[in-house]
Amino acid sequence: MRETFGFLVCVWILLLGNCSGRFVVKKNSLEVTSPDSIIGVYDCAIGNFGVPLYSGTLFGTVVYPKANQRGCMIFDDFDISFISKPGGLPTLLLVDRGDCFFTLKAWNAQKAGAAAILIADSMHGPLITMDTPEEENDWSEYLQNITIPSAFISRALGYSIKRALTFGEMVNINLDWMESLPDRMESLQHPDERVEYEFWTSSNDGCGPKCERQIEFVKNFKAAARILEQKGYTQFSPHYITWYCPEPFILSEQCKSQCINHGRYCTPDPEQDFSKGYDGKDVVVQNLRQACFFKVANESGKPWLWWDYVTDFAIRCPMKEKKYTKDCADKVILSLGVDLTKIDKCIGDTEADVDNPLLKAEQDAQIGKGSHGDVTILPTLVINNRQYRGKLDKRAVLKAICAGFEETTEPAICLSEDIETNECLENNGGCWQDKAANISACRNTFSGRVCECPIVNGVKFYGDGYMHCEASGALHCEINNGGCWRKTLEGRTYSARIDDHSHGCKCPPGFKGDGVNSCKDVDECKEKLACQCPECKCKNTWGSYDCSCSGGSLYIREYDTCISKDFKTEVSWGSVWEIILGIVTKKESRDTWIRRLGL
Ligand SMILES: *[C@@H]1O[C@H](CO)[C@@H](O)[C@H](O)[C@H]1NC(C)=O
Ligand SMILES: *[C@@H]1O[C@H](CO)[C@@H](O)[C@H](O)[C@H]1NC(C)=O
Ligand SMILES: *[C@@H]1O[C@H](CO)[C@@H](O)[C@H](O)[C@H]1NC(C)=O
Repeated sequence: MRETFGFLVCVWILLLGNCSGRFVVKKNSLEVTSPDSIIGVYDCAIGNFGVPLYSGTLFGTVVYPKANQRGCMIFDDFDISFISKPGGLPTLLLVDRGDCFFTLKAWNAQKAGAAAILIADSMHGPLITMDTPEEENDWSEYLQNITIPSAFISRALGYSIKRALTFGEMVNINLDWMESLPDRMESLQHPDERVEYEFWTSSNDGCGPKCERQIEFVKNFKAAARILEQKGYTQFSPHYITWYCPEPFILSEQCKSQCINHGRYCTPDPEQDFSKGYDGKDVVVQNLRQACFFKVANESGKPWLWWDYVTDFAIRCPMKEKKYTKDCADKVILSLGVDLTKIDKCIGDTEADVDNPLLKAEQDAQIGKGSHGDVTILPTLVINNRQYRGKLDKRAVLKAICAGFEETTEPAICLSEDIETNECLENNGGCWQDKAANISACRNTFSGRVCECPIVNGVKFYGDGYMHCEASGALHCEINNGGCWRKTLEGRTYSARIDDHSHGCKCPPGFKGDGVNSCKDVDECKEKLACQCPECKCKNTWGSYDCSCSGGSLYIREYDTCISKDFKTEVSWGSVWEIILGIVTKKESRDTWIRRLGL
């Protein structure tokens, strides 16, 4: 009917060359995560309206209305509402195709509080892309106000879902889309002196390209975020979505593995497979840790550290390396100099049957106020209380934030990208460094500091860049004295490095110790190792000793003895020559020795 009419209009425009690409069907995945009987990944076609221009995920529970099953009328007239309570799973409204435009169905669903709409095909056949009718008409005034995503599903899947619902089962769906939709204009913000923005995110890094893009955004944006925040231009806060487990399911395996605090705060299993990898519960705990990190960092006046924590955590503690743990997170927190005990206190006992004040407030904030709208899509960026629907990249987001300032009050970073701060100056950016050798893994880049093991004098260092870096290759001895002890004092340098490719360290003569961390001067006088003859006067020095002889005698070091200058006492000329020759053959040139002896 009308929808067919829309299709025909577009075919007609397509013939005129004006509808290009609109009817390329972009299939996306829809994953049913419960009940068991229909678990699986299905094709769906995401509508060209209602979704933000970046890839996103929406997790919710399906409702099929008792009346108005095609969704062409206003649900209010049937006393039907889908508005969720704080922490309640978002509603994915299932309606049937037919009688009116897809967009009208979506608009009615949105007005009734649904988070997304699933439209089941009424006939068998391939999926089509649902599109907006032409926009000039009066009856399409609501079009630009549609913000909920819509997915077109097959008649067969629609049937299976309805069947499960009639048996009283809970049907949960994860709706995913990629950044594959045509550009739309982003409307301007209300200008102000300070822009407030929220980023709704998750620490889950196990969802493939979509998760990678999200973390990529955080990495690229953090330098800008830091500048905006430090100068007081913005007030940023990160947020995390959780849901509560419905009462009858609290003791089920599903809720036990996905929830903390006795079913109060849940997120879906990262791989949708309870038997392997990490559980939803692990994600909630890490999300809570990130939220607590922000709270504690904000209280200490450095809210921007959150951006560093989140990037560092993603780099250092990924799920695929099985490092998505408290242990790993704690190391990152410590390297950023934030109080760990305060964070642990904020997290509290996640096994206890009690509220967590922070997560409770997050659940309340999920429910939209005013123009905000419920937050159901991950990730979601809210700028000046409006959900941002442009692309999730640094330039586009910065532009949207900058649009929130009145002209001439906008910060320099809005006008020029080349504003830099050197994040390595503070606490070495939390990166590895060898202070003694003046080598650091911190590198300042436009998108913020990175911790990467350096290349020094052509020698590559390997390591994580945060906790350790180690020189490699044949030249490694050149750097940092091959890891051996070395010290310079009063113009003299001693080294414990052994120059024989064994890469070992040994304290030089006159010192004792492990050769790596320390070599201690040996007190030759006290330990009676030298200069012990009756007329000898011993004085210890660093790395050696001085010995002098009383009564104008000369000290001969090699033989550790004194000889009289007039050669009458102590030793005879013969023995002096014996000494000299012995020394000469052993060591230095005859001339040197003769000079030293004063002869
Ligand atoms: C669409 O949104 C605008 C701005 O928020 C509002 O003024 C307008 O009334 C809305 N249109 C409809 C049909 O709700
Ligand atoms: C962060 O700290 C500032 C100043 O102490 C405070 O006004 C603000 O509400 C805090 N933000 C959050 C999200 O707690
Ligand atoms: C350490 O190295 C940097 C550059 O590599 C240099 O600017 C700095 O002066 C050095 N510091 C010391 C103490 O040698």
